[in-house]
Amino acid sequence: MAEIGSQVGHVVALLRAGECVGLPTETVYGLAANAFHTRAVTQIFEIKRRPHFDPLILHIHSSRQMLDLTSHIPNDAVLLAQAFWPGPLTLVLPRSSQVPDLVTSGLDSVALRMPAHPLTRQVLQKLTFPLAMPSANPFGYISPTTAKHVQEQLGDKIPYILDGGPSEVGIESTIVGFDGNNAYILRPGGITEQQIVSVIGRLVPQPEATGTPLAPGQLKSHYAPRTPLTMLTRAKVEALEYERRTAVLVFGAPLTQYPHTEQFNLSPSENLAEAAHNLFAFMRTLDQAGFRQIYAHWLPETGLGIPINDRLKRAAGLG
Ligand code: TXA
Ligand code: MG
Repeated sequence: MAEIGSQVGHVVALLRAGECVGLPTETVYGLAANAFHTRAVTQIFEIKRRPHFDPLILHIHSSRQMLDLTSHIPNDAVLLAQAFWPGPLTLVLPRSSQVPDLVTSGLDSVALRMPAHPLTRQVLQKLTFPLAMPSANPFGYISPTTAKHVQEQLGDKIPYILDGGPSEVGIESTIVGFDGNNAYILRPGGITEQQIVSVIGRLVPQPEATGTPLAPGQLKSHYAPRTPLTMLTRAKVEALEYERRTAVLVFGAPLTQYPHTEQFNLSPSENLAEAAHNLFAFMRTLDQAGFRQIYAHWLPETGLGIPINDRLKRAAGLG
């Protein structure tokens, strides 16, 4: 069983030896390995049961690494990196020959992110290689936001999980791709559309995906709990009659007809950052509580409400 601890030096040694470890980030916990080590990266795919067509994000700590791993950087990518790194933003850029095919699933682009969590930054600064790091959950399940979540799901497959406390943001990074210098969102996440537009002026629609999905985070029924989750309007949720062994996931004023124990409130004060922080942990608790059915309602489709609704939609299997 994986040990949970705070020994940065031990983690660095394990990563240098080609092992996979659990690492905290400000978005969600990741399953990290040396991106240049074929066997280590292969293990990531095996541990997660992740299909090889789904590429990995490389995590870096310096702009030097960004230059080394890419062949061209659009101006707007530079502006976004300056504004939001370290932080919950991933940039998909044309890759250099240094990037192994295994990491990018053979694509000619590479996804790069500079995470903000201080412990993981310390780890990255001690390494001479970038870390390939998907979210530390079995493929298709809810992303982990604590070390304990990682241990519950992957604890028998990795030696160590670095404990950095609950992930502050709570949902994955925003992934931005480029068509020339035109930026588009591949996956909504911790940096909002408004924040991006405030830096580069505009976003273009995502080009039509051909064949395999550009970002399989977009696959139907990703992030799914095992208990059926049904999305309703807030009005419909307010009109629900209480049924045994059902739970509601709400945002804002509590429902009067549902007992406390079966009502999970993402943010009673309607704070979207608080809701993002709570989302995956609540879905996990709900999933483990043995409910027959979960009802939830959509959040305002603005700011962090957009990525939260995206995750809820997938959890409900509505793709
Ligand atoms: O917040 C995050 O981004 C977390 C933390 C651990 O950093 N990581 C994360 O990784 O969410 P993962 O593997 O669970 O999701 C990464 C997504 C996948 O859907 C993958 O398809 C997409 O990024 N991706 C990776 N490389 C890509 C590329 N070259 N082009 C398009 N999409 C890419
Ligand atoms: Mg993931």
